[in-house]
Amino acid sequence: MDIQAIRNQTAGSEKLIHFNNAGAALMPVSVADAVRDYITAEEMQGGYETADHKRAELELFYQYGAQLLHCKSHNIAFTTNATDSYNRALSSVSFKTGDVVLVTGNDYPSNFIVLLSLKKRYGINIVRVANTHTGEIDLADLEEKIRTLQPRLLSVTHIPTSSGLVQPVEDIGRTVKKYDTLYLLDACQSLGQFDVDALSTGADFISGTFRKFLRGPRGAGILYVSDKALDAGFEPLYIDLRGAEWTEENTYIPRKDAKRFEDWETAYSLMMGSKEALKYLLAIGIDPIEARNTSLMAGLRKGLSAIDFIQLQDRGKKQSNILTFSCAKRSEQETKKYFAQNNVNIYTTPRSAAVIDFDEKKVPWVVRVSPHYYNTESEIEQFIRLVEKL
Ligand SMILES: Cc1ncc(COP(=O)(O)O)c(C=O)c1O
Repeated sequence: MDIQAIRNQTAGSEKLIHFNNAGAALMPVSVADAVRDYITAEEMQGGYETADHKRAELELFYQYGAQLLHCKSHNIAFTTNATDSYNRALSSVSFKTGDVVLVTGNDYPSNFIVLLSLKKRYGINIVRVANTHTGEIDLADLEEKIRTLQPRLLSVTHIPTSSGLVQPVEDIGRTVKKYDTLYLLDACQSLGQFDVDALSTGADFISGTFRKFLRGPRGAGILYVSDKALDAGFEPLYIDLRGAEWTEENTYIPRKDAKRFEDWETAYSLMMGSKEALKYLLAIGIDPIEARNTSLMAGLRKGLSAIDFIQLQDRGKKQSNILTFSCAKRSEQETKKYFAQNNVNIYTTPRSAAVIDFDEKKVPWVVRVSPHYYNTESEIEQFIRLVEKL
């Protein structure tokens, strides 16, 4: 990997240390250009006309999305964000009172909130699968709960927003495939960090977003819909004329592919930027990205673990590009200000992002540090020195 070339293509990287890729990464210039150029074309030629001219290029979004997830183009839908993807998938499940939804203690807060909302409205039961002592989902408990409770849906977040934990999605997939439970995987933080093979996960639906480790624009998301879910006729509750054709006064026919889950009106400029981000990532290759990230993160974890007044808070046998630590010495506001004044982008995560996890860890908030492959060893070193002086 030619880091200097990659940094030259990352305009923001020379001006600051950006360790908030779990929030939103720095886009490559080509991605930002693709969005800008598309908007200019709309400005000069008209929105509908531009979409017509650029149809073939826009279709590449689905092709690259399929390459990312090792599936077919017809399994891919474009959405506005990961939560949107998750909710569209969820809305396709016709829940009845008493239906069980299995979750993990490390699912994304919006996923918990929407399930609690469904509980309030439809009386579903949310049941949490136990964790192992290292923090991941307990596979034996998962299988036992699937067998005995026959849940309508399993929801798992691959990498939580608030810690470096990585759930063993392929092991979960092996378990889930034995049963008839629907499975919705939130891969928002893992896409762009790890190779996510849709079929190996066993998931019926996978949600993701572009602005994080995929380095795409804000306001763009991706949804994978399995062949099984498409063939079984799952369709979003608020399906529109993109997803279906109105054929008679009382009839509509859903389309066959995952575009069934899209809206007719959409931000094509962001789809173009997302297509470009996928192209960029695929050209570098996810394996080299993962290898470089593993090495950067090992240096960061080692350096920070030697500082005695902070506590690293990440659990799990395998860890990701999210590192979190607590520090009783400074308030959340002081910490944010300190890093901002030193030209370093980090994020602080409050308890409300992960109430179950943070209460177990007994921390009110953490510093979240999330480098990506375009960051350098020297930036990691500078960051460790800054934390020493916190
Ligand atoms: C694990 C996880 N899932 C889902 C989301 C939601 O993504 P979006 O804001 O694109 O809806 C996030 C955002 O931080 C996340 O970290």
